[in-house]
Amino acid sequence: MNIRSVTHIDNVRLSDSGDAVVIIDQSLLPNETVYLNLKEPEELYDAIHELRVRGAPAIGIFAAYAVYVLARRHAALDYDSFYVNFAQDRDYLDSSRPTAVNLHAMLTRMDGVVRAGREKPVPEILECLRDEAIAIHREDMDMCRAISEYGLELVKDGFGVLTHCNAGPLATSRYGTGLGTLFLGAERGMTFHAYCDETRPLLQGARLTTYELQKAGIDCTLICDNMASFVMREGRIDACFVGCDRVAANGDTANKIGTSGVAILAKHYGIPFYVFCPSSTIDFGCKTGADIKIELRAPEEIKEKFFIQPTALPEVKCLNPAFDVTDAELITAIVTEKGICRAPYTESLAALFGGGEA
Ligand code: MRU
Repeated sequence: MNIRSVTHIDNVRLSDSGDAVVIIDQSLLPNETVYLNLKEPEELYDAIHELRVRGAPAIGIFAAYAVYVLARRHAALDYDSFYVNFAQDRDYLDSSRPTAVNLHAMLTRMDGVVRAGREKPVPEILECLRDEAIAIHREDMDMCRAISEYGLELVKDGFGVLTHCNAGPLATSRYGTGLGTLFLGAERGMTFHAYCDETRPLLQGARLTTYELQKAGIDCTLICDNMASFVMREGRIDACFVGCDRVAANGDTANKIGTSGVAILAKHYGIPFYVFCPSSTIDFGCKTGADIKIELRAPEEIKEKFFIQPTALPEVKCLNPAFDVTDAELITAIVTEKGICRAPYTESLAALFGGGEA
């Protein structure tokens, strides 16, 4: 592979016939590259819940296509019955994961298309739904590219960058958010040294971020999450780059569990900590991070998954929060498609996005 084949990876798309969503099964990477054709409500729901498709923007794009695919089944109904079925599918998909706002936001956007079309014949509404899902996908490509351009203002050639989780092409479209600057910079001849947190317990950093960077020929080194302090102390890290799942109006940011610890370490060592955020991930309805619901997942992900033998007695209790909130005060800047926001974020985010129209 080269940079372009990574940044143009086909992670989520509508099938040619429009009756399925096609994804790379991210839960099998990097060992197997398997594409799935998903049509049934349960398999679409499970794809999100089981992280076959993951990353806040990718989940939003997937949900938009998924609700369209499901809506096609109700094409023969009158508007009112169509809407009842559509709303059921929308709510079912929306319940698959709680933290990344993109899922709810994109389903709400699709809902708006149906309601705006109430005077149209249902087949025409379906066309509008397909067009909206494609528009959501294209907008994400543009946002990722713009975010990556702004990110280049924050780096110099030879920078060491610490990453957490995966905010690359697999999690988004095209360049990604948190990794986009590295891909775009590399395309323009810059070199970077990425240190990738493995990201326990589901290992998105190990399995996906190093996969993307390695295939693109960008220097990357895998570390366990508890080694971040070591590489920072050794002076290997010039900046931390992370994505986000929901950014509150005051800049508090929910991202993959462990992100807040990285931010605290970065502050200790005086290293800038940057969040890369498409406007689709800002939730002005959340005033602060305290309003963000954190997903709790199964204990087996900690004790059993990825291990040959269980790592603890079956009766040992586990707490498995999938995300944590990084306080705005720990964030050096939030890089969006419209520019770079700095504290106070309540003002800077509202100035760029109108405090509610993001
Ligand atoms: O549980 P995941 O893998 O969906 O969590 C993903 C993350 O936390 C990413 O950092 C975030 O969605 C940003 S993706 C651009």
